[in-house]
Amino acid sequence: MSKLNPVNIWPRNTTFENGEIQLAGIRAQDLAKEFGTPAFIIDEDDFRSRVQDFRKALDSTFGRDKSDLIYAAKAFLSVQVAKWLEQEGAGLDVCSGGELAVALAAKFPANRIEVHGNNKSLAEIRTAIEIGVRVIVADSLFELDRIEEIASQLGKKQAILLRLTPGVEAHTHEFISTAHEDVKFGFSISSGAAAVATKKALESKHIEMRGFHCHIGSQIFDNNGFDIAAQRVIEFMAEMKAVHAIEFPDLDLGGGFGIAYVETDTPQSVEAVINRMHEIVLGECKKHGLAIPHLSIEPGRAIAGPSTVTLYEVGTTKEVKLDGGRGRNYISVDGGMSDNIRPALYGAEYSVQLANRTSNSPLTSSRVVGKHCESGDIIIREVDLPSDLKPGDLLAIPATGAYGRSMASNYNHQPRPPVIAVKNGQARVILRRETEDDLLNLEVNS
Ligand code: LLP
Repeated sequence: MSKLNPVNIWPRNTTFENGEIQLAGIRAQDLAKEFGTPAFIIDEDDFRSRVQDFRKALDSTFGRDKSDLIYAAKAFLSVQVAKWLEQEGAGLDVCSGGELAVALAAKFPANRIEVHGNNKSLAEIRTAIEIGVRVIVADSLFELDRIEEIASQLGKKQAILLRLTPGVEAHTHEFISTAHEDVKFGFSISSGAAAVATKKALESKHIEMRGFHCHIGSQIFDNNGFDIAAQRVIEFMAEMKAVHAIEFPDLDLGGGFGIAYVETDTPQSVEAVINRMHEIVLGECKKHGLAIPHLSIEPGRAIAGPSTVTLYEVGTTKEVKLDGGRGRNYISVDGGMSDNIRPALYGAEYSVQLANRTSNSPLTSSRVVGKHCESGDIIIREVDLPSDLKPGDLLAIPATGAYGRSMASNYNHQPRPPVIAVKNGQARVILRRETEDDLLNLEVNS
């Protein structure tokens, strides 16, 4: 038995024996037989260990009492996952009433919940204030009015952060880049909107203005964007101190830390990213004569992403002749864009491995596609796979834990796959497979 190769795109407890993939000690084949395919298999210890990696890096830089790891629920959330996070000492960033409902169903402590969103409903704001969330990250002047009014009705004072737009071009896909000027999120620093919002928040009787937040985008490998964002936000904190004679205690630098999907991806270690962040925050605070604020980060992908593998069964294969006479093998699996929209939406790349056997057949240019009724339903555009792949073979796609199940849809009335947690040779369902009955239950026939 050997651990998989060092450019680790697999969950940490994955092994490879005689061509069969084992996830936390369980053969992929056995998982497929017991739970069916497609299925998301989440390595519980991998997920927990990544929370710990961030926690350790924060402890050794900012310090345990002066920093928080707030997991971004949008990457993937279920009641069980919320419980793991609670046990590992993390907070939870929710950005909808639905995510908040899952957190509450898991009895996640409200004072570790941070509420995001550029258009929170009145009901979402009310629930958040009623249950006593730790902080609401405010995103517009209208929202400041709403928080003030609801908190006043409830006789409470609500802690908030203001989401800032530092004007940073993050080097990632446009759709997941969030801190340039022409974007729906936050208050622009350069336009003066952030200063107006700060003043308004300070003047609101039922708002406790604790500090600032920024999130520049997602799947980022290059530190530069993080550095500039932190510099601009801290500079703004200093300006606000000069104007209002208040030093704001909290700074949240968001998530966005990139992971490896294919072996050529080169994310930095968590330790390196946090060390760098610490260096910048320390340097900038010193430069502006500010005390080091309480620092929060909100990784989602870097915790959930690498923990999970999707198992698919091959249904058909088809050799297609391309211009120039070259062939391409289309491998159709039993899921697709309904359980992984990322390739279609962002041109995201994934890796794949035959999971149930070894093959000595020559490799051939292949495309892994789903079962949906459109040609864009591609999981992997171009990959060399053994030419003898056949119906019934199992394919494993690693790094599908973030924005896979959480962005899954019922396109073509495809029921969404289950999530199976594996740990020390044991497997259990944490989210069951949807059924056609679940879908039909929404129909109103009267
Ligand atoms: N904090 C805020 C305010 C966010 O908006 C996000 C992600 C995060 C934290 C977590 O970012 P992460 O560490 O996961 O990169 N669906 C896209 C990603 C959208 C991210 C949206 N916001 C994808 O599949 O790549």
